[in-house]
Amino acid sequence: MPVKNSELKGFYRKSTEERIETLRDYCHLNDEEISILKNNGSLNRETGEKLVENYISNMEIPMGIATNFSINGRDYLIPMAIEEPSVIAACSNGARIARMAGGFRAYASSSIMYGQIQLTNLDDIGKAKTEILMERENILRIANEASRTLSKLGKGAREITFHNVKYDEHVLIIHLEIDTGDAMGANIINSMVERVSPFLEAITGGTVVLKILSNLSPLRIVRAYATFRKDAIGGPEVVERFIHAARLAEEDIFRAATHNKGIMNGIDAVLLAIMNDWRQAEANAHAYAAIKGSYGSLTHYELDNNGDIIGSIEIPVSVGTVGGTSASIPKAKICQKILDIKDARELEEVLACVGLAQNFAAMRALSDEGIQKGHMALHSKNLAMAVGATGDNIEKVAEMLVKSGSINMTNARVILDKLMKGE
Ligand code: MEV
Repeated sequence: MPVKNSELKGFYRKSTEERIETLRDYCHLNDEEISILKNNGSLNRETGEKLVENYISNMEIPMGIATNFSINGRDYLIPMAIEEPSVIAACSNGARIARMAGGFRAYASSSIMYGQIQLTNLDDIGKAKTEILMERENILRIANEASRTLSKLGKGAREITFHNVKYDEHVLIIHLEIDTGDAMGANIINSMVERVSPFLEAITGGTVVLKILSNLSPLRIVRAYATFRKDAIGGPEVVERFIHAARLAEEDIFRAATHNKGIMNGIDAVLLAIMNDWRQAEANAHAYAAIKGSYGSLTHYELDNNGDIIGSIEIPVSVGTVGGTSASIPKAKICQKILDIKDARELEEVLACVGLAQNFAAMRALSDEGIQKGHMALHSKNLAMAVGATGDNIEKVAEMLVKSGSINMTNARVILDKLMKGE
């Protein structure tokens, strides 16, 4: 029966207990479903209530460890939280092959982000630019008053640049370049741009409309590479197909979208495990993939003189090791301990390598046996559980599903029925 009225007046004022009871009535949840909602796991209700509005429960996502990573000569165990089968196995496999030739090398450029201010109603853009630059020191000082911590670290707002728009010649976009150090920086940047806006209006006579960070961080880039030996890839034919597939991703938007989705499978899963904002990472990466005017691949593959593949990635990554909500989430804290990184820069380097490993592994499988073989073996276990298989029957149903070649829910149900009847 559909919900009759979604207004749920006063829902936000109710206690979590009352909200769950409201859902019981509205959505006809049974006792078992209610008790699942009430099971909070390691994140207690009080914390959850402080983190989001209209809180009812926590969502569990499977978590595993990607192995084999060697980055800049250091070994890492990488926690990943993701519901999709094969991702963690593929990532570990990509890292295993990279490891054979020395592992990954990575370099994060800086921790500079842009705060964007949209200044409208200007009589002359050139005049406004000059007035702003003449007050450069004051603007940076006012911005930096928003974060004593960054100022003490010698970071914070450090430059002003401009950006014109086509839609109105009386509008100027001001970019405040802000070094956010070990923070992802969203809050700091937003505070800074809000703080300087009245001053910008006063010196230019314009009106500020939008003032917020940009999630595109072309100055906060990681470059990483690894060599993947041809023998570990499956021989020259697979290598040749691999290079074809890589070239397609560089120029074809339809393939590039899927290719980059695979990269983000890995990066998002790590960000989720350590409870960092993965939506901004998505926005950043995909916007950067289109920064030259057409959308393309974030990785690049070439053959070296031996015929081995050198894979590289160039990706903006802006993440924090200070600030954010991860400190209040017990499992995120444990994952950070497992990952064991010292600062945001190192984390950004690790994330880029995870993206490269993930992409290489997908490309390798796609150039050889295809991804469905490995994917479907795991997916069949999910289907077995989804139709109610338990204990040994999970493996049995999964195996029979794979053998049947028809891996779907209906078939899983038929197979389980037969097993239960002893047929
Ligand atoms: C699936 O989640 C990701 C892949 O489609 C990525 C790719 O095609 O490169 C396997």
